Amino acid sequence: MQVKAPRGTYDIMPDDVNKWHYVERIIRQTAETFGYAEIRTPIFEHTELFERGVGDTTDIVSKEMYTFQDRSNRSLTLRPENTASCVRAFIEHSVAGGILPVKWYYMGPMFRYDRPQAGRYRQFHQFGVEAFGSNNPAMDAEVISLALEILANLGLTDYELHLNSVGCPQCREIYREKLIAHIRPVKEQLCADCQTRFEKNPLRVLDCKLNSCQAAIAGFPNIYDYLCPDCSEHYSQVRKNLSDNKSSFIHDNQLVRGLDYYTNTAFEITIPQIGAQSAVAGGGRYNGLVKACGGTDMQGIGFAMGMERLLLAMASVENGPINAPKLDVFLALMDDKYEPQAVQILSGLRRAGIKTDRDYNYRSAKAQMKYADKLGARIVLLLGEDEIQRGIITIRDMQSREQSEASTEELMAAIKAILE
Ligand code: HAM
Repeated sequence: MQVKAPRGTYDIMPDDVNKWHYVERIIRQTAETFGYAEIRTPIFEHTELFERGVGDTTDIVSKEMYTFQDRSNRSLTLRPENTASCVRAFIEHSVAGGILPVKWYYMGPMFRYDRPQAGRYRQFHQFGVEAFGSNNPAMDAEVISLALEILANLGLTDYELHLNSVGCPQCREIYREKLIAHIRPVKEQLCADCQTRFEKNPLRVLDCKLNSCQAAIAGFPNIYDYLCPDCSEHYSQVRKNLSDNKSSFIHDNQLVRGLDYYTNTAFEITIPQIGAQSAVAGGGRYNGLVKACGGTDMQGIGFAMGMERLLLAMASVENGPINAPKLDVFLALMDDKYEPQAVQILSGLRRAGIKTDRDYNYRSAKAQMKYADKLGARIVLLLGEDEIQRGIITIRDMQSREQSEASTEELMAAIKAILE
């Protein structure tokens, strides 16, 4: 029986890894220009962290986690997201005692047992940032601007930034009561998921994508009208800051994120042309989360971006660097008796930092040229009977298709001249 990759997972084959490297490089460079430092946390954590951190009424915790008992009967979970892990690390390493704010970024696989479809996987990759220790609305705007800057640096321009404020626990509770009173009489018209959401977290009914649910709640009060003066001021400062930075956004009353920890600013960035799973990034402020996970009273804000969705969007962008040549030099070898010379040439070039590969099957010169072409080699070196007799190496420039010769001593300079 052939064993295949589990449903919702996939291999990133070497040809595609180039694209990943390109996107990862741009992301890292952009995050670092904004002053964020990388953190790497474990792939699995104690299950309790996500129950407390993400919230046990959320879809993620109630039905999407990969949870297992280890051999010592501990309940562990493959991380479904990384904010809770960053909060745990922040507390565990007593980071609050140092100079604040601290700004972290991360990149890596996350795991959710969701129904797979284009842009939605069970193992997927996120890039994300978390900034702890500031409630300044300028920090909210910085975090959002970083997400937008990454898109711009990747050449993506057709996105929408949706923005809302979900208030603080005090003003949200007043709104929640109001919303419950409005939803209760129309509860039967809602989908089964929304009926459960109504019981557990009624605000989540607002961002149901079904038209029937949207029709049932049309005209219901908006949280915006219930924000307390502090939350209202915070939200208007965030919007002002974004406008000052010439970033356009859509105020979206329906935007309620699917994780429980948000306070105040919530945002999502969508790229409509990538299909049903159009949210490429989502995030917001979580001022109560560090405390809820056992730390001090500490503000935080962040977002995460789906790397697969970014790559889907990138498919429509012409991008030179993604297809950069993969190999500088290919050494075509006609017979095993030339191995001693070959091994010296190969080691010399590799030590000089020149990306070099070779043939191992001693096929015909024509077959080796074809192979070198497939590898994207810029230069092919030919080593056969004639070359050995004359003490030279034939150099073929695969771009100009010109051929020249060099002695072993001249070889390095000749190759560098072509590569430059
Ligand atoms: P999230 O909205 O659950 O937020 O995920 C963020 C992004 O990850 C989504 O916008 C999407 O691009 C991508 N994503 C989520 N699930 C999948 C999936 N099954 N397949 C492919 N891509 C997916 C969070 O995870 C929060 N931790 C974000 C955050 C950081 N908030 C504050 N700090």
